[in-house]
Amino acid sequence: MVAGLIPFLAGCTDGPLSALAPAGEAASEIAWITWVMMIGTLVLMAIMSALGLYAVYGRTRGRGGPSSRAIIGWGGVMIPALVLVLLLVYGVRTGDSMLPVGEEPMEIRVTGHQWWWQFEYPGADGETFYTANELHLPVGRPVDIRVESADVIHSFWVPVLGGKVDAIPGRSNQIRLRPDRVGPYRGQCAEFCGTQHAHMGFHVEVHEEPDFEDFVEHMTGLDRTEAGPESGRQAFETHCATCHSRTTYVDGTGPNLASLAERPYLGAGTLQHTEQALRLWIGRHQQIKPGNHMPDHGDLDEETVEALARYLEAR
Ligand code: CUA
Repeated sequence: MVAGLIPFLAGCTDGPLSALAPAGEAASEIAWITWVMMIGTLVLMAIMSALGLYAVYGRTRGRGGPSSRAIIGWGGVMIPALVLVLLLVYGVRTGDSMLPVGEEPMEIRVTGHQWWWQFEYPGADGETFYTANELHLPVGRPVDIRVESADVIHSFWVPVLGGKVDAIPGRSNQIRLRPDRVGPYRGQCAEFCGTQHAHMGFHVEVHEEPDFEDFVEHMTGLDRTEAGPESGRQAFETHCATCHSRTTYVDGTGPNLASLAERPYLGAGTLQHTEQALRLWIGRHQQIKPGNHMPDHGDLDEETVEALARYLEAR
């Protein structure tokens, strides 16, 4: 059985979504618990199997072994109680290390929407700025993530950095993350929230401290309303501006598009961002991610799609 698990584990212990390849303090604790529980379970199962076999095939004649009372008392009460108490203490201690207590670190507000994520950061000027579907964090520094929802229950989860926390309408939940490894990772909504739940991912980028400062500097008050071709700007005003913004200091009912040019994915992790994919997404997003709350743009002519794409890619 253990041998059968090995190929399965090899596929799980790597990759941008693996909870067994931790890149943060809380995730390391969770990975440890997983290993302790898994190995502990295997050891206990081996002991129980051996006892079972002994009970069936072992020699039971003669006297001198422990009494049945002692076997039941130790095996049925004392040892299980000891194991459970140890696990409880270990679990509570681990859970405690993930709570946002002590220190007052930077706070990023996350709002789950059907089916995308909004992130609100403290900017360099004391004001906040918004991005969509991309979470940027500094390495080695604790960050409190405040998780909220604009509609139904979602769940914020970056497996390599920490545990899940639900985004519940009308409530504000918090989790502390402290990444210890630079890299691109991925987050995912972990609570079924409607037809496009699976397409509710987000990109996570953990930066060295100076690069993170540069990111904050760059995004603070970023305004790309006037960037790109005039025809694109006009098409954006007509078809997109009711819900989307091209400045990072305005949120919206749809994802903020100020920094779309730099984003590696489109549609909350649905497509890899390429020039071709952006044009496809603008015109055919209802086929690609059916039921998403953006009105169908199948009637836009090619010229308008092109103008919009060039406008959105402009820096
Ligand atoms: Cu949001 Cu599942």
